[in-house]
Amino acid sequence: MRVVVTGGGGFLGSHLCEALLRRGDSVVCLDDFSTGEPKNIARLRQNPAFEFRHTDVSVAVDVSGPVDAVTHLASPASPPDYLRLPLQTLAAGSRGTENALRLAHRHGARLVLASTSEVYGDPLLHPQDEDYWGNVNPIGPRSVYDEAKRFAEALSFAYRRTLDANVGIVRIFNTYGPRMRPHDGRVVSSFITQALSGAPLTVYGDGKQTRSFCYVDDLIRGIIAMLDSDEAGPVNLGNPRELAVTELAELVLDITGSSSTVEYRGLPADDPVRRRPVIALAEELLGWHPEVDIAEGLRRTVEWFAARPEDLAAGARLLHSGRSGLP
Ligand SMILES: NC(=O)c1ccc[n+]([C@@H]2O[C@H](COP(=O)([O-])OP(=O)(O)OC[C@H]3O[C@@H](n4cnc5c(N)ncnc54)[C@H](O)[C@@H]3O)[C@@H](O)[C@H]2O)c1
Repeated sequence: MRVVVTGGGGFLGSHLCEALLRRGDSVVCLDDFSTGEPKNIARLRQNPAFEFRHTDVSVAVDVSGPVDAVTHLASPASPPDYLRLPLQTLAAGSRGTENALRLAHRHGARLVLASTSEVYGDPLLHPQDEDYWGNVNPIGPRSVYDEAKRFAEALSFAYRRTLDANVGIVRIFNTYGPRMRPHDGRVVSSFITQALSGAPLTVYGDGKQTRSFCYVDDLIRGIIAMLDSDEAGPVNLGNPRELAVTELAELVLDITGSSSTVEYRGLPADDPVRRRPVIALAEELLGWHPEVDIAEGLRRTVEWFAARPEDLAAGARLLHSGRSGLP
């Protein structure tokens, strides 16, 4: 297949490009590097089956030649990124999604939309299954991301219903692994960066809020299974093992052997209290479930961060200066 991957220069997108190339697909990667990094795909650019186009998908998604499938991942995704880029985030979710849908529809190609557990907002139902409609503040600071993804889902389903487009939606829960940016403000990358550089681990709120963390390889298998199916979804993809943020901090300290302390700060606006996916649908429709447990996934991620001391030091400086991380 010739697969278009929007946002292919980012954390998840670069792993997806790699996995598709590994199984023999060719890949057209579109990215504007607003939050991704050229080095994520530097190695892939030597592969003749890989093409890169510097593109802002909210302006246009033009790809010449055959297109067999589209995966739409382009969007700022970490809270500091979408809070810094609110209008771009709304544009990627709305105009960007429409441009990607048009391209796929023109070619009769399947499109998989990377949606998010953030569509459930601060959920009143726990754990979250796909029938839950969510609890989102439509005008809060996080709404630029949550509502953009909810709109992207609505648009995708409208294409499916009115134009019979072959569209599927995955709702991705917190995913971690190699290639997260040390300073991207997500909790796993921040804790690892702080632990490895001897800085205190920053916990927002009392740390009792929970998240469910999925290792990147598991998640990418799920996206590809969705791509290879004709399912509409939405389908939750995530690891149902729920962990309090303080438990995660302890695990990271244990794995890194760090003697960093833990520092508590105020909780950001609309921060969800609990998050855990019900993945019965992914198991039933796609035969998918995560395989890498959190301790093993964290060990692999720590190893990757530790092997890049310069990036780590730069990330630690940014985290410490307050120019990254949650406000
Ligand atoms: N990582 C997670 O835990 C997670 C959870 C839920 C959903 N997702 C979704 O998965 C997708 C990828 O997330 P990620 O974690 O890899 O984030 P990321 O920031 O590393 O990757 C996003 C990529 O999209 C690119 N991009 C952003 N706006 C663009 C635009 N207008 N035109 C072209 N490229 C653009 C960025 O440069 C970046 O390379 C996002 O859609 C995100 O919402 C991720």
